[in-house]
Amino acid sequence: MKSVKDIDKNYVMNTYNRYDLEIVEGMGVNCYDVDGKEYIDLSAGIGVNSLGFCEMGWVASVTQQVCKLNHTSNLFYSQPCALLAKALCEKTGYKKVFFSNSGAEANEGAIKLARKYSFDKYGGDRNKVITLVNSFHGRTISTLAATGQDVFHNYFFPFTEGFVYAKANDLQSVEKLADNSVCAIMIELIQGEGGVIALDKEFVKGVAKLCKEKDILFIVDEVQTGVGRTGKFLASEYFNITPDITTLAKGLGGGLPIGAVLAGEKCESVLGFSAHGSTFGGNPIVCAGGNYVLARMDDDFLFSVEQKGEYFKEKLEQIDEIESVSGMGLMMGLKLKTKKSLDVVKEGIKRGVIMLTAKEKVRLLPPLTITYDEIDKAVAIIKSVLND
Ligand SMILES: Cc1ncc(COP(=O)(O)O)c(C=O)c1O
Repeated sequence: MKSVKDIDKNYVMNTYNRYDLEIVEGMGVNCYDVDGKEYIDLSAGIGVNSLGFCEMGWVASVTQQVCKLNHTSNLFYSQPCALLAKALCEKTGYKKVFFSNSGAEANEGAIKLARKYSFDKYGGDRNKVITLVNSFHGRTISTLAATGQDVFHNYFFPFTEGFVYAKANDLQSVEKLADNSVCAIMIELIQGEGGVIALDKEFVKGVAKLCKEKDILFIVDEVQTGVGRTGKFLASEYFNITPDITTLAKGLGGGLPIGAVLAGEKCESVLGFSAHGSTFGGNPIVCAGGNYVLARMDDDFLFSVEQKGEYFKEKLEQIDEIESVSGMGLMMGLKLKTKKSLDVVKEGIKRGVIMLTAKEKVRLLPPLTITYDEIDKAVAIIKSVLND
């Protein structure tokens, strides 16, 4: 029989530059390849496995739901969807939720919501969205356009119109673009794919103020930073801001595909009947996973993420080859002195630790349930990779 690798190469579109590793199972922070070799996974499926691989309570909640009701449609009510929306609103102060299946779709929903908000109030000419240079918002035609990186603006013309790009941490550059044609400003608080770069607090507050003054909707893309990743349920808590819209995805389902648009008081009713929809959005199984994740994220859990993040950072900063560690909580970017991030990730896999890259940095997004012992073990391997 052909190997999975060969079958994949033959039949799956070649859009991913996969590492030479087939993962067959996992438990907690560890996963195992076809030969039974163990890895510490500091990537968590790019921030998706918030509770690690196959956490027992999560498995029980999801399997219970699988056996009870796999799918209905959004023509009907179902308990997991309603309860997840309630839990999200209670945790964040937002008023209403729209469920999608991915981060890009959540951002699409947010953009639609913002354009309709302005259309309803001001007519059709107020439809531009300001995003930031070096941002990443997804891979649909519109979210590629929203992404402020030229490399993503190739091949697929024509992209959705109406996106303009301001410089991060330069309020004047935002102000210059924020005329009467703008309906929203959309930012990541920590640019994840862009290199794990946290924005300045004062800049973010300035953007929030500007939005309020001009009735521009403030959208914060927390697809990567949300759901406890930084040690707060939302990273916006660190910045003392209350965006009109926050988008979530990745860690929300604990390993199942979900995205969410959270809307505040000002815009909670903008997307009414037939204005938006999704066949799979709010699926009961996926929402059962989300409900379990949310139930786990109490204050103690979030505080432990913050503390483990500090501990991890401190240990990493002691490694000579690491120039600096950026990010917050368990979202970290390692700036290296001499080595190339991709080489480090490849060597890490050989030595049993899975990491990510983000531009020139090594990026770590471990499961939020990682223990101190596991952090020590991972740091020892990272050290050996970087010291050789
Ligand atoms: C900040 C941010 N927004 C949007 C996305 C797109 O999410 P998805 O791949 O689920 O569509 C990502 C994915 O990495 C992201 O980091």
